[in-house]
Amino acid sequence: MFKRVPGTKDILPEEVILWQGIEETSRNIFSLYNYKEVRPPLIEEAALFNRSLGESAEIVQKQMFLIKNKKDLYCLRPEATASIVRAYIENNLDKTLGFIKLYYIGPMFRLERPQKGRLRQFHHIGCEAIGSHDPGLDVEVISLADNLLKSLPIDDYKIKINSLGCTKDKKELNVIIHKALKDKLPKLCADCRVRFKKNTLRILDCKNEACREIVRTLDIRDAHLCPGCKAHFSEVKKGLDSLKINYEVMPHLVRGLDYYTGTVFEIAHEKLGAQDALGAGGRYNNLVKELGGPDAGAIGFAFGVERLLLVTKSPTQQATGQKLTYLISLGEKAKSEGLKLLDNLRKERIACDTDYEGRSLKAAMRRANDLGARFVLILGENELNKNVVTLKDMSSGEQKEIKPENLIQELK
Ligand code: HAM
Repeated sequence: MFKRVPGTKDILPEEVILWQGIEETSRNIFSLYNYKEVRPPLIEEAALFNRSLGESAEIVQKQMFLIKNKKDLYCLRPEATASIVRAYIENNLDKTLGFIKLYYIGPMFRLERPQKGRLRQFHHIGCEAIGSHDPGLDVEVISLADNLLKSLPIDDYKIKINSLGCTKDKKELNVIIHKALKDKLPKLCADCRVRFKKNTLRILDCKNEACREIVRTLDIRDAHLCPGCKAHFSEVKKGLDSLKINYEVMPHLVRGLDYYTGTVFEIAHEKLGAQDALGAGGRYNNLVKELGGPDAGAIGFAFGVERLLLVTKSPTQQATGQKLTYLISLGEKAKSEGLKLLDNLRKERIACDTDYEGRSLKAAMRRANDLGARFVLILGENELNKNVVTLKDMSSGEQKEIKPENLIQELK
C-alpha cells in the first residue's frame, strides 16, 4: 500500500470546506485593500531562492526540494515572495503598472523534519505590495494582516514588530550582536557557532532553548538604525497606534531570510506551541533591484494556512458549502423520475444529491441528516400517483406535499 510522503496531508472534503472558508474570507479582505490575485508557477529555478533568501538561509541550506533536469536545477518553491518579484520584473509590471498590490494562495514546499505545525507541503495566503517606500504602506499591510485574522475569526494573537534598517544598518546590527555574543560563544549550539562566523543576525532566530535564553539577555535596541530608518519606523508605529492595532516592538525579532530590510513583523499564537508563528513578513527594499529590476521598495507577508486552521475559534462558521437538498426516490419509476428532478434542480443552481446505494427510507433519512441536508425530498409511488413531491424541512421537521412546478421556488 502506498502512503503519502511524510509532512504532506490529504485535505479531505470535510476539511476542504474550512479551507474554502478561509480562502474566501481572505479574498474578500484582500479586495477591500485593492490587492489582485497572482498565480506564479510552483517550480522555479533554484538559483532564484539562493539569490533572494541568501546562501546561508536555512531554507536554502537544508530545505529545498530540488529537481535536476539535464543542466538545469529547478526547485519546488519554498516561498512565493521571490517568485512574485521575478514575475514582476519578467512581465515588465514595473514599467506598465509601477506600484502594484498582489496576493496569492497556494502550496509551498520545504524539506523539513515534519512535526506539529511544520509540514513539507504547506500553504501560504500572502500578499506583496511592490513599488513604494511609504511607511503608510507598512501600516496598511500590517493592518490588513490584523483584519484578516479578526475576520476568520482568530484572536489572542500577538503582532511583534521590529526594524532591521537598511543594508548599512543591518551590518551595524550584525556588529553589535557579534560583540555582545563573543563571550557567550561556547554556550551557543553548534549551528549558532557557525552562524556567528557567517551571519550573526540569524542567531537571534535560533529555536534552541539555550540560545534563546542567551539572546533574551542581549540588550539590543535601535542603535543600529540610521536617522532615515529610525524616522520610517517611528512613522510606522505612529500609524499603527492611530489605527489602534495592538503590537509589541521586539528588538530581538529578525527574520531568517536575507531579503528583509526595514520593518519586519511576525504574528504569533501561543496555542501553536513551539512553532508559534501564524504568519510573518516585512519590507524587502533591495530585492527587486537585486533580481534585475528597478530600485523599488516592497513589503508583504504570508500566513501558514494549516496554522490558521489550528487556531480559528469556530472553524464551522467558515463552512460556505451551499445547503444541500437530498432526494429519496423509492422504486424504479421514482428513481428515473428522480434523476430528471435532480437535473432540473441543478440547472436552477440548487445543490442536491440522492442515494445510489439502495438505502431504505429510514437509512436514507439518516444519510441525509449525516450530510447536513437542509431539505429532503421524497418521491415514492404515492407521490407519483398524486403528481407531488414530499418536502421535509430538516431544521423544523415540517413536511408537506408540493406540486413539482412549485418546488424550485419553494426551495429557493
Ligand atoms: P515564512 O516566515 O518563512 O515567510 O513563512 C510564513 C508562514 O508560513 C510562517 O509564519 C508559518 O505560519 C508558515 N510556515 C512556514 N514554514 C512552514 C512549514 N514547514 N509548515 C507549515 N507552515 C509553515 C515567508 O515565507 C515570506 N515569504 C513571507 C513574506 C511575504 N515576507 C514578505 N512577503
